[in-house]
Amino acid sequence: MTDQRPPVRISPSILSADFARLGEEVRAIEEAGADWVHIDVMDGHFVPNLTIGPMVVKALRPHSTLPFDVHLMISPVDHFIDAFAEAGADIITIHPEAGPHSHRTVQHIKSLGKQAGISLNPATPAKMLDYLIDDIDLVLIMSVNPGFGGQSFISNQLRKIEAVRKMIEKSGRDIRLEVDGGIDTVTAPQAIAAGADVLVAGTATFRGGPTAYADNIRRLRGL
Ligand code: DX5
Ligand code: ZN
Repeated sequence: MTDQRPPVRISPSILSADFARLGEEVRAIEEAGADWVHIDVMDGHFVPNLTIGPMVVKALRPHSTLPFDVHLMISPVDHFIDAFAEAGADIITIHPEAGPHSHRTVQHIKSLGKQAGISLNPATPAKMLDYLIDDIDLVLIMSVNPGFGGQSFISNQLRKIEAVRKMIEKSGRDIRLEVDGGIDTVTAPQAIAAGADVLVAGTATFRGGPTAYADNIRRLRGL
């Protein structure tokens, strides 16, 4: 089974980029071999930090041809879905705790022609996916509590990655399994071995500035 999986994708989180030069940073990670661009949207309410809105996503769109992997940590989430879709998001991921009707929110994302993801916080069980797995394109396992870059990987999330990998295989659907938080050259191979096929990495991608990005990304792939 492992051998049939596609190579791991790297989705650098621009939360760790230089916010004064975001366009250049996005171009630099694309040139350095990133697969997706991970955009962390925080509202200071669902999570204790404030970051990026749809206007910034729209401003970044012309700077990259890569899929924009938009991670919404906002509540209520529903009334911002259209704005992020119009701004150029390709994948829109929500937390089930961020609204009363996750199934409806997923349907709405799909109706806009976008890929829909569900993100599970460290304390949220894999079981939360039982009645969503038939409709989603991506599961995002949080391996830190959302809100900030640079936190340590919570190791018990490896069990959840394994459990979700089994659920995905059982579903027979084409669903990406992404892991977010504390990914570095030590935890990346652990997450991949547990079944992840997309790694978000903020600190580990942007460390050392633009000249280091290609090496940083290559190392996360285990190359
Ligand atoms: C945390 C964000 C992550 C974060 C990852 O709330 O969802 O995407 O930026 O940062 P690192 O890779 O530094 O742990
Ligand atoms: Zn994220």
